[in-house]
Amino acid sequence: MNILSKLRKKIKKSLIKSKILINQKIIIQKNKNEKNGHYQLNNLYSISNFNNMSPEILSKKIIKNMSSQKMIQKMVFSKPCFINIFLNSVWIEQSITNLFSNKIKTKFKCNKNKKNVVIDYSSPNMAKSMHVGHLRSTVIGDATARIMEFFGYNVIRCNHIGDWGNQFGMLIAYLKKVKKIKISKIKNISIDQIEKIYCQAKTLCIKNKDFLKKSDEYTAKLQQNNQYCYNIWKKIIKLNIKENNKIYKLLNISLNNTHIIGESFYKNMLPNIIQDLIQKKIAIQKNHNIIVPLKNIKNRKGKTMGVVLKKKNGSFLYSAIDIACMKYRYEKLKANIILYYIDSRQKQHLKQVYKISKLARYISQKVKVKHHMFGMMLNKKNKPFQTRSGKTIKLLELIKESINRAQTIILKKNEKISKKNLLKLSKIIGIGAIKYSDLSKNRTTNYIFNWKNVLSFEGNTSLYIQYTYTRIISILKKDYKNLIKSNYTIKISNNSEMLLCIKILQFKEILYQASKKGEPHLICNYIYELASKYSYFYEKYHILKIKDKKICITRLKISYIISKILKIGLNILGINVTKSM
Ligand code: ARG
Repeated sequence: MNILSKLRKKIKKSLIKSKILINQKIIIQKNKNEKNGHYQLNNLYSISNFNNMSPEILSKKIIKNMSSQKMIQKMVFSKPCFINIFLNSVWIEQSITNLFSNKIKTKFKCNKNKKNVVIDYSSPNMAKSMHVGHLRSTVIGDATARIMEFFGYNVIRCNHIGDWGNQFGMLIAYLKKVKKIKISKIKNISIDQIEKIYCQAKTLCIKNKDFLKKSDEYTAKLQQNNQYCYNIWKKIIKLNIKENNKIYKLLNISLNNTHIIGESFYKNMLPNIIQDLIQKKIAIQKNHNIIVPLKNIKNRKGKTMGVVLKKKNGSFLYSAIDIACMKYRYEKLKANIILYYIDSRQKQHLKQVYKISKLARYISQKVKVKHHMFGMMLNKKNKPFQTRSGKTIKLLELIKESINRAQTIILKKNEKISKKNLLKLSKIIGIGAIKYSDLSKNRTTNYIFNWKNVLSFEGNTSLYIQYTYTRIISILKKDYKNLIKSNYTIKISNNSEMLLCIKILQFKEILYQASKKGEPHLICNYIYELASKYSYFYEKYHILKIKDKKICITRLKISYIISKILKIGLNILGINVTKSM
C-alpha cells in the first residue's frame, strides 16, 4: 500500500478523463496540519495554467471525477491554489484490516524489482584501522543495502577496500628501510603498530624526498607483482580484514569477506585500460605520466590539468582503479544502479571517473550512477569529532564506549539484571544508539555527535523507539494470542485512531522514498513520529481497560501493527529491538 502513488495515479486518470493535458508530475504531499486534510495536491496552478484554465474550474473537474473513489472522503479546493484531500475512514479500516496478519513484513515488501544495484560502502583504507570517519559510509551504506533488498532489488554489496595505493609503498619502505623488520615478523605486528608506522612514513615522505621516491618505487614494485612486496602486503591486508570483520560483526553490518572487491582486484585490468584510453585518444602521455586532460578540471591557479592515471614509475593511481571498477560493475556485475557512499570530498574524483568511463563507453548512459555523499561527524564545538588531544577516534573505541554507557543506563533502571542479560542488552542499546544517531541525521549535512543525545530516552533516538516497542509488547502480552485469532475487523472510533491508522499506512511510501533517495533518515523520522503518536495515544486513551470490546480489539490490533512496524523499521536500519528494557 502506497497512498501517495495511489492518489497520484487516480488523479492522473481523472485528468485524462477530462481531457486535461499533463506535462508534469502530479505533486501530492502530506498535509502538515491534518485538520486541513490528510494530503494535498500542490501543482494545481501549473497544470491549470498549461491548459489555459482557471484553477477553480480545473479543481471542480478533478473533484467531480474523484467523487466515486472509495479511498476518498472528500476533496476541497483551497485558496490560493490547492486541493485538500481527506481519506475515507471505512477505506482506512479495510486497509488496516487487510494489513493485519502474521506476515505484516511481507505486506510491506515489494518483490517486483529485479534490478541490480551495486552499493559501494565502508571501503576503508587497509593501512589503518577503522575510525569514526568510517561510521557514516558503513552505517548508511548498510542500511541502504537492506532497504533496497526489502524493495526487491538484487543488491551487490561492494567493500572497495583501499589496498592498492601508495600507502603500501610507504609502509613497505618504512618497514624495510627504517624499521628493518623481517617479513616473517610481520604477523606478530598489531594493526595499531601498522597504523603508527603508516603515520610515521607519511610524515617522512613530506620531509624526505629520497624516502618519498623509495616509497613510490615500492608502490610500483608491488603493483608489478614483486614477490617480496606482495608478501608483506598480503600479511597486512589479512590482518586488517580480520580486525574490520570484528567491527562489522559487532555493529551488525552485513558485510563479510565475500563482499570485498577492493582496489587490488582490478590490477590485471589496468594496463589494458590505459592502452585502450590512449588508443581512443582519451588519455595522453605527458611528462612520462599518462593523463586524461579534462577541460573543466582546473588546478588552484586556474590552469587546465589532467587526471593522472599512471605515473612515470609505472604505478597506477586511484582514478585509474575506479575507472576499471566502474567498467567491471557495468560489464560483469550487470549493474543497473551504482551507489557510492563516499564523503563529499571525493565529489570531484567521482565526477571525473564517471566522465572518463562514459567517454570510453565503459558504462552505458542508462546506468544510474549516484554519489550519495554525506557530511561529517562534529563535536559540540563544530570541529571534527576527535579525542581531546586532536587524535582520530577509533571506531572500536566508540562502539565500546557506547556499550559501556548503555550498561550504566541499564543498571540505573535495574540493578539486579544478570551479567549475561546486561551484556546482551547493552549491546542492543549501545550499538543501536550510535547507528541510529548517525542514520537519523540528514545524510548530506554535517552533524554534531553528543553522547547525551545519542543515549537519551527522549527525542528522535533509538532508545525512545526501542522503549516504545517494549511498552507495546507488555500491553500485548496479556491478550496477544486471542487478539491474533480474533476475526474482529478494525473499527475506528475517534480521530486519534484515524491519524494513527493513516500513519501506519504511510510506512510503505516512506520506505519507497528512502530507497529512491538513499536517505535512511526518512525512515528514522517516520518511526519516531509513529512512536510519538502512539505514546500520545497511549497516555490519552485506555487500551485494555476499555469496556467496548470492539474498540479494545481495534486498539490492540493497532498496537500490534505499530510494534511490528517499529521492529521492521529498526531492523531495516540494522538495529535490533528487545522485548524488555
Ligand atoms: N578507500 C577510500 C577512502 O577511504 C574510499 C573508497 C570509496 N570507493 C571507491 N570506489 N572509490 O577514502
